[in-house]
Amino acid sequence: MFITLEGGEGAGKSTQARRIAAHFSARGRPVFLTREPGGTAGSEAIRGLLLSRGWEGGTEMLLHFAARREHVARAIRPALAAGAVVVCDRFADSSLAYQVAGQGGTRAMWQGLVDLTLGGVWPDMTFLLDLPPEAGLARAAARGDTNRYETLGLDFHTRIRESFLRQAAAEPGRFRVIDATQKLDAVTEAILAGLPA
Ligand code: TYD
Repeated sequence: MFITLEGGEGAGKSTQARRIAAHFSARGRPVFLTREPGGTAGSEAIRGLLLSRGWEGGTEMLLHFAARREHVARAIRPALAAGAVVVCDRFADSSLAYQVAGQGGTRAMWQGLVDLTLGGVWPDMTFLLDLPPEAGLARAAARGDTNRYETLGLDFHTRIRESFLRQAAAEPGRFRVIDATQKLDAVTEAILAGLPA
């Protein structure tokens, strides 16, 4: 089973990803907890490139997909093949939100890269941690680890949120939308209630 968490900045994805992983571990299931961009040594190196400077839009999308292909080929696909539950903090939906809706890339390029680079590996279940961008950016700022994307302004982050909500509406079978303004424990409960036994 391949589970992803999506959402804007400060939505609490990484905390909830750890809790989902702990939930399966406690039930004796092997779990691979990972994140994007990153998840392998090479993909973490590409993450460094992405977060340290700006790129031409198409180049930026290619770098995200280069990191993702490496991650899928070397870590996610083998983990799934070995029977692990894979829990990933962000995946290709983030590129549709950030690089297409946010940065003006084309959906055709995104779709082409999905088809060409992921070998059919795709999440079974995606939790969208939704909250207003004002609240998320304030949380991220309070956390004090502002990254390049967090400085791109409210209009940008509003487009990200709207893109994620459109994606969820278009694929209700895969997405569960969770109100991420709730307390951490309430968010966890809502997620666990949506997981298969
Ligand atoms: P992440 O570590 O999840 O940041 P945060 O915890 O602050 O949400 O991801 C780093 C940044 O990379 C994040 O601001 C969103 C961006 N990103 C994209 O623009 N496209 C992508 O495909 C992915 C996976 C992330």
